[in-house]
Amino acid sequence: MKYLSSLKSQYLKGKICILRLDFNTEDNWRMEASLPTLKFLIKNCRAVVILSHKGRPRGFEEKLSLRNSAKDLKKALKKQVIFVPHFRFQEIKNLIDSVPKGSIFLLENLRFLEGEEQNNSVLAEHLASLGNFYVNDAFAVSHRANASVAAITEFLPSYAGLELETELKNLSQAIKNPGKPFVIILGGLKIKDKLEVYHNLKNKVDKFLIGGALTTEMLNMKFWDPKLKTKNLIMPLDFKLDKAVIHDIGPESVKLFKEKIKMAKTIIWNGPLGDIRQKKFSNGTKEIAKAMSANTTAFKIIGGGETVMFFKKMKLDKKINFVSTGGGAMLDFLAGKKLPGIEALK
Ligand code: 3PG
Repeated sequence: MKYLSSLKSQYLKGKICILRLDFNTEDNWRMEASLPTLKFLIKNCRAVVILSHKGRPRGFEEKLSLRNSAKDLKKALKKQVIFVPHFRFQEIKNLIDSVPKGSIFLLENLRFLEGEEQNNSVLAEHLASLGNFYVNDAFAVSHRANASVAAITEFLPSYAGLELETELKNLSQAIKNPGKPFVIILGGLKIKDKLEVYHNLKNKVDKFLIGGALTTEMLNMKFWDPKLKTKNLIMPLDFKLDKAVIHDIGPESVKLFKEKIKMAKTIIWNGPLGDIRQKKFSNGTKEIAKAMSANTTAFKIIGGGETVMFFKKMKLDKKINFVSTGGGAMLDFLAGKKLPGIEALK
């Protein structure tokens, strides 16, 4: 894999970079994670052309436009960001050629084009024609074989950005050589993805702590049976219910989970343990977030949009060694799958 960090400023001089970022978050925390990459490129390149998607549109949808992301980026960088609301590639090329050094462009939501999610090589070639080299700094979408993530690398010299490099380093370190006990906390939805993580890492992980909607799903599919004790799968002991539906883990589970977290030397967490949209069902997630933050000797990683936002709101994210920008991408990585966006850089 080639890394942006290995490139000399001499190589970048006079060049136009096509930079894939992920602006698919309600607030801008993924944008913020890529600011070092952006600043490095702006300082050294002639221009930076940013590509991103947002949501899962079917054709053009005003509410999924990236126009506001351009405004937010302008604020974050304190620099002009030229938003390009169309995909007339020759026109865009002429525009890029006419502006001064260090200019920043953001193209409209690529998923407004059919070819993006189909990994279409004609679209990838058009995107590639706008620059001289390509950087992927969008770990969060690297599990998708999309034109701006995978196919584009066939047309340009391609590199992993600074944030992507950090993601790979931290996640690999955690699973290749974990300090023991190794604890993984899994909650929220996406049961299929989380079971794949369990199967891939069950021989390495000492305790999987399970909560959130995942609990109900695991009970429903009889994946877990209280009579069959699995050594490393820890299901909640009690729950907070609403109309007979599980909405949070209960106090006994919090106590048990805290004990495991206190001892751990590696902790990874993806997915809330309760329905954190409601304050009355946030207690389990809150208590476990505090316990994880209080363990100052473990190597700690969190990921998944809801989990990360929860930590940020509680101002506990700074107590974590690494905040992954990936949701599904992080789970696929932990499940041992090959991520098309990462494979394409190899
Ligand atoms: C995410 O938010 O997980 C990424 O941006 C990928 O989005 P997707 O699941 O719609 O492909």
